[in-house]
Amino acid sequence: MDKIKVGIIGSRFAADFHCDAYSRNENVEIAAVAAPDNLEEISRKWNIADTYEDYREMLNRKDIDLVSACVPNFLHHEIVVAAANAGKHVVCEKPMATTVEHARDMIDVCKKNSTRLFYAEDWCFSPALNRVDKLIEEGGIGKILYVKAKEVHNGSHSPFAKNKESCGGGCFIHLGVHPVGYILYLLGKGKNPVVEVTGKMTGGGELNFVHKDNGGEDFGMGMMRFGNGEFAFVEGNYITVGGMDDRVEIYGTEGVLKVDITLGSPIDCYSRPGISYSIEKTDHNLGWTKPAVDEFYNLGYVQELEYFVNCVRNNEEPFYGVDGQAGLACLEIIKAFYESNEKGVTVRGSWL
Ligand SMILES: NC(=O)c1ccc[n+]([C@@H]2O[C@H](COP(=O)([O-])OP(=O)(O)OC[C@H]3O[C@@H](n4cnc5c(N)ncnc54)[C@H](O)[C@@H]3O)[C@@H](O)[C@H]2O)c1
Repeated sequence: MDKIKVGIIGSRFAADFHCDAYSRNENVEIAAVAAPDNLEEISRKWNIADTYEDYREMLNRKDIDLVSACVPNFLHHEIVVAAANAGKHVVCEKPMATTVEHARDMIDVCKKNSTRLFYAEDWCFSPALNRVDKLIEEGGIGKILYVKAKEVHNGSHSPFAKNKESCGGGCFIHLGVHPVGYILYLLGKGKNPVVEVTGKMTGGGELNFVHKDNGGEDFGMGMMRFGNGEFAFVEGNYITVGGMDDRVEIYGTEGVLKVDITLGSPIDCYSRPGISYSIEKTDHNLGWTKPAVDEFYNLGYVQELEYFVNCVRNNEEPFYGVDGQAGLACLEIIKAFYESNEKGVTVRGSWL
């Protein structure tokens, strides 16, 4: 079978790890990249033959099978719709969109064009969390009662994430979408709905703890209850210094699982001059650090994009958790968290 030809839209942080993952896959050719800036740097780094300033021109190409939308959240809808209408399968970065209505439309347009929509929740492919799946499957911790999960760091590098309109909110939609998405995959499985959410957040701008220049909140936490009775607690915040901290704790009737996805490393390094890089979102890398071995692998990006490419090759739908339905459910739940925070109440519904 011929290689799958991929077009990347976007040229910075997410585009870089998509290129890294595709480059490790012998069944993929990164055919082109489209973005309004940084084209020379990204095309040189990943040896990409064609560049486009306007992504619509790239979508006109007949030979591209799969598109990666690595653009700010507010552009996900526009780009997924354009890609599907051009007959391309599309990987959409998280969160799926900035509104529930946009996410629904994206699912409809992809369905209408018989193109696949892959929702990039990489936690579903983290090797540590995949091992956890197996331990749960074999009955190692009994029946799950409670899950606690978070993604936290010291603030986004992206100007689009600091702006409430282009992000769709603050840290809760931008980071909290990972724990929400993972817990939906783990407990919801498309059958067990979230029925109750209660959220608490800082107020954005001057009402934030630290990031007064961010329109959206810089701290968010929330409780979810599932139809089958399980509880979950999720956090997303920009007030955590010392590197990106992604953690999951799962409490069952017969045991407990605790996972450190990002900070743990088999390497202990002490450096007097400091090293160039240890892990994502550290302020400095002097003295003792724990440099990651392969962050893109540990976070699941490599395996995620390999899986999506295989879905295209084998003409298969993605599983619940990384499909449009899960991406939509995440947004419905996050919207309910925002409503809960604003009104100071618990919001009830049924989200799958
Ligand atoms: N899965 C993850 O863990 C993860 C991590 C980081 C970012 N993301 C997601 O990836 C997306 C991009 O984030 P980022 O960190 O790369 O942001 P970024 O600010 O680093 O880059 C944004 C990119 O979008 C491009 N862009 C802006 N307007 C465009 C347009 N009209 N057409 C085409 N390209 C345009 C810019 O050129 C730039 O390359 C966001 O949705 C973010 O949530 C996901």
